[in-house]
Amino acid sequence: MSTVPDIAHLSMASGDPLLVWRDEFPILEHTTYMISHSLGPMPRRVRTALQDFTDTWASRGIRAWEEGWWEMPVSCGDLIGSIIGAPKGRVVMHQNVSICQTIVTSCFDWKESRNKLVTDGLNFPSNDYIYYGLARQGAEIVSVTSADGMTLPLESMLAAIDERTQLVSLSHVAFRSSYLHDLAAITERAHAVGAYVVADLYQSAGIVPIDVAALGVDFAVGGSVKWLLGGPGAGYLYVREDLDKKLRPAATGWAAHAEPFEFAGGPIDYAPDIHRFLNGTPNVPAMYSARSGYEIVAEIGVAAIRAKSQRQTQLLIALADEIGVTVHSPRDPALRGGTIILDVPNGREVTAELIRRQVLVDYRPGAGIRIAPHFYTSDDEVAHTIAELNSAMRR
Ligand SMILES: Cc1ncc(COP(=O)(O)O)c(C=O)c1O
Repeated sequence: MSTVPDIAHLSMASGDPLLVWRDEFPILEHTTYMISHSLGPMPRRVRTALQDFTDTWASRGIRAWEEGWWEMPVSCGDLIGSIIGAPKGRVVMHQNVSICQTIVTSCFDWKESRNKLVTDGLNFPSNDYIYYGLARQGAEIVSVTSADGMTLPLESMLAAIDERTQLVSLSHVAFRSSYLHDLAAITERAHAVGAYVVADLYQSAGIVPIDVAALGVDFAVGGSVKWLLGGPGAGYLYVREDLDKKLRPAATGWAAHAEPFEFAGGPIDYAPDIHRFLNGTPNVPAMYSARSGYEIVAEIGVAAIRAKSQRQTQLLIALADEIGVTVHSPRDPALRGGTIILDVPNGREVTAELIRRQVLVDYRPGAGIRIAPHFYTSDDEVAHTIAELNSAMRR
């Protein structure tokens, strides 16, 4: 049997309607941009959005707070909510995932007998760093290891979750290999034993359809620099509505108070709604810059983005097979996110050479070269990336 797959069926028969969006991204004029798993390209309209921020500050001054700025963590969160299936008023913006995880884990008392935190062995390091820090508060951290460093069979995750588990954490799509977890099954198991689930959606939101409300996850966190094309400083936190009454995050601040402008000292009287998961002054310019990306992703629709991504990542795999390169991401499109990881000799140097040739990709030790088409990518660019990789590799 031939190992070279037939790639004709992976090409677009009659044009690609999503390519009309290319004009929106100035960097595509001179760069093959295959790195939205790391930093998505800037939408052209962000320039106007940031101008709008400075104009508002300049002309409205302090009145800008009550004219929209103060509520931006929630109004901006609603745009994210429309992409991840959260009801209105259930997502708040923070600077990054690390802060969101700190807030989530601060909702629990780790000295109780239910003190186990189960984390997936492919989780993003920042998440682990925060969890292991909880050990000094009494938490028992159980990291479910991946035998191959790339995938994590569902059964291993399910087996680790028991009646002593307080929180289950996973990166929905693994940053290193693009492995896609079965979030529904993990959430079901966690809830069956009375545990909470926090899903890091950074590598899935905007490229894999998600419905946090239908999944029933308790918390979801993520950020905007990648598939959502929103730039830095705009992380987000989703919390299931019924948890407002139960949870009192110890990592907090005055914006989480029921009446923040009363400036009352002493212990906090939490806001009754999602505002209780805020902390201090919001990162307003980051939210101005982030909204454009969300609007574009929402307008295209994640289902259409996913269909194209599955086709082009399959095309990447087929082309990589043709040149005999090891593929580290799952071959089944249903089991992977939007990135393909290719392991080549001297991967770091090959990556540097590709960047020199205006083909933007990145390298992760122990995994390989990460390559990600997005909705603006043409099939020619996919082929060009593999051709340049082949030539850089042989240099
Ligand atoms: C899955 C995942 N979580 C979190 C992060 C980053 O976390 P933070 O927003 O705290 O920088 C990344 C990548 O940078 C990631 O891939």
